[in-house]
Amino acid sequence: MARHLITSAIPYINGIKHLGNLVGSQLPADLYARYQRARGNEVLFLCATDEHGTPAELAAKKAGQPVAEYCAEMHAVQARIADGFRLSFDHFGRSSSPHNHRLTQHFAARLDAEGLITEVSETQMFSHADGRFLPDRYIEGTCPNCGFDSARGDQCDNCTKQLDPVDLIEPHSTISRSTDLEMRETKHLYLRQSSMKDQLEAWIDSKADWPLLTTSIAKKWLNDGDGLRDRGITRDLDWGIPVKKGDEDWPGMEGKVFYVWFDAPIEYIASSLEWVDAGTGAGVDQGWERWWRTDKGADDVRYTQFMGKDNVPFHTLSFPATILGSGEPWKLVDYIKSFNYLNYEGGQFSTSRGRGVFMDQALEILPADYWRWWLLSHAPESSDSEFTWENFQTSVNKDLADVLGNFVSRVTKFCRSKFGEIVPEGGSYGPQEETLIADLTTRLAAYERQMEAMEVRKSAQELRAIWVLGNEYLQSAAPWVAYKEDPDRAAAIVRLSLNLIRFYATLSSPFIPDAAQAMASAMPEGPEAWPTDLAATLNALTPGAAFAVPDNLFRKITDEEVEEWQASYAGVRE
Ligand code: MF3
Ligand code: ZN
Repeated sequence: MARHLITSAIPYINGIKHLGNLVGSQLPADLYARYQRARGNEVLFLCATDEHGTPAELAAKKAGQPVAEYCAEMHAVQARIADGFRLSFDHFGRSSSPHNHRLTQHFAARLDAEGLITEVSETQMFSHADGRFLPDRYIEGTCPNCGFDSARGDQCDNCTKQLDPVDLIEPHSTISRSTDLEMRETKHLYLRQSSMKDQLEAWIDSKADWPLLTTSIAKKWLNDGDGLRDRGITRDLDWGIPVKKGDEDWPGMEGKVFYVWFDAPIEYIASSLEWVDAGTGAGVDQGWERWWRTDKGADDVRYTQFMGKDNVPFHTLSFPATILGSGEPWKLVDYIKSFNYLNYEGGQFSTSRGRGVFMDQALEILPADYWRWWLLSHAPESSDSEFTWENFQTSVNKDLADVLGNFVSRVTKFCRSKFGEIVPEGGSYGPQEETLIADLTTRLAAYERQMEAMEVRKSAQELRAIWVLGNEYLQSAAPWVAYKEDPDRAAAIVRLSLNLIRFYATLSSPFIPDAAQAMASAMPEGPEAWPTDLAATLNALTPGAAFAVPDNLFRKITDEEVEEWQASYAGVRE
């Protein structure tokens, strides 16, 4: 039995995520976790909310709530929606948890002990009205280069010139709009990741099997980007993890917190400690160290991370620098599966403009399986992909309703009308069934190969092809014709088809868990373990045992609905 540690990039706390966020990390991670569990492997699947940083503070302010209260509420909201999408996390943690505080402070102390931390004095814009230092993007003013009046502290969006906040003419705070700003000196901790370039490069080079998207981004940052510049890991903010050296105060760092991108990935580890506290690991050995410490058994764990492409530099360089720099035997990631972006109806999803479908809205429109199927079968793997309502309608109506749903309903209803709601007895499988079993065996091997390789779209195609084989078989074996001459022959065809439903339930469960459950529980023997011998699997149901005709698995989407949804989710113009 293999052991799989699987993490999804942890979503920011400030607001409900859209479908593009979902398909870029949490959903494919869930697909893989469910698949590995179905194969009988031991899985620890973790995610969390990313709760620190200025955006969290500002979102709380906008909501008129204390930031801790805001985060607790939004965490519960995101957890509920994740459940709605059937994301099967073993734990959905919080980066603001006490465990993450402790671990983050521990890593900082270790990095300091290894000589990898320096203190740097810098001047930054301080806002009297806001009582705080302002990060670059919270300062705006007129661009000295082109005169654009909303240039940000780090860059002018009009002429793209890189700027320093001091360059701006008449700078003001975007939080309070105050112009009462002053350059003040402040000290920060820097992680000397530049000194680790060779080590990181050797590690990345050793990952010959990583997907191209991951490696190309990692190499770009390693070689010609700013990726390995020494990185400030502290901030002058109130909300965050206080800068400490383990349990000890860090002289000169009073009132400062760690940078959100320093503590967020450490939450992957902390989440497993939260999971142990929660005691919800039914069937999974709760020793968290056997997942994370290579000196405690984690060296035979396979660790896979899922994320959108914008997260790749942090997971290929910054977080590994933290792990390697600690000098302690923490588990490093084995495989990074990254995704391009999902667009929405010819443009981008926009959180600020409410353009596109957000996770809570999606579940109000249709159940999780519809979305899971479309998103996964159109995952933005080799390039960006695009959600359109028409394409969604086509996929749902064809793949789910016509191919899979229709098969299940034809077989079960035909059986009920001719043999009753029992697995028919009599007859035996012949050459047609042998051909089908051989074809399915080939297809199943291909499906497994694609799932192992985390080729999400190709896996969906293989699964669909397996559903299609069932339909083609039913069409050509035509039990409704056979029944007139030879009821036993019809019984054998229907019996095989009922076995196929149970087989489909197992295979489809990583993609469409609710429908899979409905299919499995309709059959007398309940769910089937992952099939290894199809001749046996398709003979498993006991003739004479009772089954139930399930409700229609999927409904079709109408043209009127497509029009209505197109109009409703187009977004409000500013
Ligand atoms: N919150 C980040 C985002 O949504 C992802 C953080 S991933 C982790 O882009 F590495 F910090 F965990
Ligand atoms: Zn400009």
